[in-house]
Amino acid sequence: MTEIDWNEWGPETRAIRAGQRRTAEGEHSDPIFTTSSYVFASAAEAAARFAGKDTGNIYSRFTNPTVRSFEERLACLEGGERCIAVASGMGAITTLAMGLLEAGSHVVCSRGVFGNTILLFQNILGKFGVSTTFVDLTDAAAWEAAIRPETRLLFLETPSNPLTGIADIAALSDLAHRNGAWLAVDNCFCTPALQRPLAFGADLVIHSATKYLDGQGRCLGGAIVGSRELLDKAIYPILRTAGPTLSPFNAWVFLKGLETLSLRMKAHSDNALQLALWLNEQKNVKQVHYPGLPSHPQYALARRQQASGGGIVSFELEGGQPAAWRLIDATRMLSITANLGDVKTTITHPATTTHGRLSADERLRAGIGDGLIRIAVGLENIQDIQHDLKI
Ligand SMILES: Cc1ncc(COP(=O)(O)O)c(C=O)c1O
Repeated sequence: MTEIDWNEWGPETRAIRAGQRRTAEGEHSDPIFTTSSYVFASAAEAAARFAGKDTGNIYSRFTNPTVRSFEERLACLEGGERCIAVASGMGAITTLAMGLLEAGSHVVCSRGVFGNTILLFQNILGKFGVSTTFVDLTDAAAWEAAIRPETRLLFLETPSNPLTGIADIAALSDLAHRNGAWLAVDNCFCTPALQRPLAFGADLVIHSATKYLDGQGRCLGGAIVGSRELLDKAIYPILRTAGPTLSPFNAWVFLKGLETLSLRMKAHSDNALQLALWLNEQKNVKQVHYPGLPSHPQYALARRQQASGGGIVSFELEGGQPAAWRLIDATRMLSITANLGDVKTTITHPATTTHGRLSADERLRAGIGDGLIRIAVGLENIQDIQHDLKI
């Protein structure tokens, strides 16, 4: 069969077809290769593979056909040349940092990122001599002022978790490049179905595949997408030697998830917009954060960067933590869990869960109030979702 260049096909087609290479068995669905190692035809072939002269499989810590299919499909969707998949979203950020940074390197990171990402940069990488300055996602002057000669990486999520702030990817990639740094974007909330950060100039995209790429809350995984040169040089050696490997079974689940990604992201966005509009009318709701609402402070930018608003809506209730917990505990159908990106709607109180390990001061600066609730809007009937929220 002739090799197809999937980059020439539409995103829905790429999400279903890219990256699959049928074996001699002629299977229609992607196969799962559960093998730790591979057999060589001869000692000479083994030597050629280990020396990198022959690109065949060696050992599943760093070469597995099912994982490779997932990597190729995601790279094709993000418009990147290469993808390296790893065991979780946090594993992807750790692998990226280990590959790009060294003792003495400096990072500028948005304050509006997942709580663990803050702890990773601040505490864990801090132990190894990497320093990080945290800035407001949308404050262009603060990003610029934080740059130092030793700044190597700018890191952000857009939309941010949980407040759905929107960063100007093109402006920040320009800032990074003028200063000899890379821009990495966590594209977890939008996925390539709604936003492709590389097209706006980002150097690297990271994913928690655990979320929308899976889409049904089953498996953990992560990925890094970017240019072949950067991934081969900086990221692949960490995968091969440090071993944050994705299991082939999880890669297979993500391959299945990607097949329905564009349909699901449209449906998540439709439900989320309806919920955001409804929340906006409730008298106990102080503020609704959703990039698909014209009242969102970066609505125009979101429209330029994203195909739609995505599935995450946050809102602030009158009455602080007691009111927020009361509302969460009164739900009967929604799932009280911190995960997101599932067909099942989830509800969480960021201040005491995803961002609970930050100090009160850090939470305040990140804008995570005690009355804030985050809903990852699923694909149930929207009236049922509203009915379950006793506001
Ligand atoms: C935006 C974002 N990035 C990264 C992660 C980490 O992903 P994982 O749980 O797969 O390690 C999460 C997890 O919730 C997240 O919400």
